[in-house]
Amino acid sequence: MKVNGREIAHVDDAKDRRQAFRKLAKTAERYLQGQVLRPESKRKSSMIPVVKAKLLEGKRGLIVGIANENSIAWGCAKAFRAFGAELAVTYLNDKAKKYVEPLARELEAPIVMPLDVNAPGQMEAVFERVTKEWGKLDFVVHSIAFSPKDALQGRVVDVSRDGFLTTMDVSCWTFIRMAHLAEPLMRKGGTLFTMTYYGSQMVVKNYNIMGVAKAALESAVRYLAAELGPKGIRVHAISPGPLATRAASGIPEFDALLDKAKAKAPARSLVSIEDVGVATAFLAHDAARLITGETLYVDGGYHIID
Ligand SMILES: NC(=O)c1ccc[n+]([C@@H]2O[C@H](COP(=O)([O-])OP(=O)(O)OC[C@H]3O[C@@H](n4cnc5c(N)ncnc54)[C@H](O)[C@@H]3O)[C@@H](O)[C@H]2O)c1
Repeated sequence: MKVNGREIAHVDDAKDRRQAFRKLAKTAERYLQGQVLRPESKRKSSMIPVVKAKLLEGKRGLIVGIANENSIAWGCAKAFRAFGAELAVTYLNDKAKKYVEPLARELEAPIVMPLDVNAPGQMEAVFERVTKEWGKLDFVVHSIAFSPKDALQGRVVDVSRDGFLTTMDVSCWTFIRMAHLAEPLMRKGGTLFTMTYYGSQMVVKNYNIMGVAKAALESAVRYLAAELGPKGIRVHAISPGPLATRAASGIPEFDALLDKAKAKAPARSLVSIEDVGVATAFLAHDAARLITGETLYVDGGYHIID
């Protein structure tokens, strides 16, 4: 099948004409929905893993924090989608949109919206759209953090008030705010996730003020879990080992952190965003309904070793 002279579909493995027609009709439908099409023969295999047991089928969730294919939020989104959940995703701004949109298409996300937590009203707009289109929410993944360079890379003792407030605002308060906005949409319960790091508990070289923010975030998780638990809403922090993402590139000597993690972790392995995603998806399943307020380490056991 060609559109404007460009081949968008090629059927050579159909058993009969009716099957070939069905395949082309499906392709045409996707084309009309605005999805980018590649000929089937040239199409890369899907980025979403194939999982037979659709354990999260019927669940709908919001994923905040996909910047690119390396993002922890993307690892989570892939796992949730593979298990059958439907996803709404956000991107930071127009610059980020071109990286996030193709990923959102892979996820077949029906809601894709901008969200800069510093932009007044944008978070509310996302929740309003979810309310209008879905009327409910089963999970939220908050996978964002930010600290201005001079705050992040300086000593905690020297941090400016502005640097401190910005770090806490984006990296901690926004999770509390998302919980507030999600609560009315989780009438039948749900799960809220945020991403933290071991530097909240121990002094990790170069983690600085972000360690302070993550400690506050983990504490917020416990208070939110206690307050929302009676409504069946569970709240977790996921604590991955170091991963080479864009956010991590702001931390000096990050390679040394990776080397140390691999050498010291009982698993003698670094973690992947897929490892983080699957662990997070498990906690969203009803089988985990009595687990809440947790900081779950996905770090190959690094945190138990002296
Ligand atoms: N990479 C690691 O080693 C590691 C380890 C443990 C925890 N984490 C945490 O995981 C989370 C995700 O980070 P990542 O490592 O996937 O990096 P990433 O750069 O892929 O993701 C960070 C996200 O934060 C978003 N963000 C920053 N400021 C924002 C704002 N004002 N409004 C909306 N979004 C904003 C960015 O757009 C980006 O999508 C962060 O909370 C980070 O602290 C990372």
